[in-house]
Amino acid sequence: MPRVASETGNAERYTPGDMASAVAVMADRRVETHGRFFLPHLRPGQAVLDVGCGPGTITVGLAAAVAPGPVLGVDAGAHQLDQGRRLAAQVGMTNVAFEAASCYELPWPDQSVDRVFSHALLEHLVDPVAALREARRVLRPGGMIGVCSPDWGGFLLTPPSDGVAAALLAYQDVQRGNGGDPLAGRKLGVHLGEAGFADIRVDARYERFTSTTAMAELLAVLLDEAGHGDHARSVRMWSDQSCGTMFAEAWVSAVAVNST
Ligand SMILES: C[S@@+](CC[C@H](N)C(=O)[O-])C[C@H]1O[C@@H](n2cnc3c(N)ncnc32)[C@H](O)[C@@H]1O
Repeated sequence: MPRVASETGNAERYTPGDMASAVAVMADRRVETHGRFFLPHLRPGQAVLDVGCGPGTITVGLAAAVAPGPVLGVDAGAHQLDQGRRLAAQVGMTNVAFEAASCYELPWPDQSVDRVFSHALLEHLVDPVAALREARRVLRPGGMIGVCSPDWGGFLLTPPSDGVAAALLAYQDVQRGNGGDPLAGRKLGVHLGEAGFADIRVDARYERFTSTTAMAELLAVLLDEAGHGDHARSVRMWSDQSCGTMFAEAWVSAVAVNST
């Protein structure tokens, strides 16, 4: 049964779906960049769960940090898991596995893992607090969670463009229509508190996309698919300039402890 947002009545739907260009953007991510905030909390031998692991590039980095501890990457999109398995085999990482699962029903027993990590998942969920409660269920007492989500209220765009600003707002509506929350970043601490976590620490950073054109095209395709051809055109025209375009996304990260 798909989850339904209580306020909007929308069923949960992962906005980028299985779009190859979206998966390619994620496959560029590494633990040293996108999971850096969590690295100080990882030690060899720890058991780690990466929830919403996508193509698994960050997961494999987590596995390197805790080897020989076991790492499991779980994702509802089973099509991406083979990519993670292939990468693990390529780099000879034997302490990592990948499994299809929902973040609302994790395939691990109560109090069985030392760390839960989740990058770029909570903003797509109808019920992020339920997912965080489920993460707390599998965490050992004293275990830590690290989560990170973007906040579309903090997008930096240069040169400024009213057309692209309007397109970004339209995309936010698409994500809300799919049950997600484009402003999830600023709510991570609140959600962790509601899920029963303690010692919550929140931080933020900007990511400048190395290819503005590729990012703009990804956004344009999603807008086209949602029936916003006019906004898609604005984004494509904006990115096709020679004056040094830049797209930078605000990311909020948070770590917290299961103190029970
Ligand atoms: C934006 S991607 C992030 C992937 C990876 N963590 C990263 O940052 O590169 C979000 C991932 O969450 C997965 N996902 C969405 N809803 C989910 C759910 N309810 N349970 C588990 N995974 C989910 C999607 O299939 C997708 O792979």
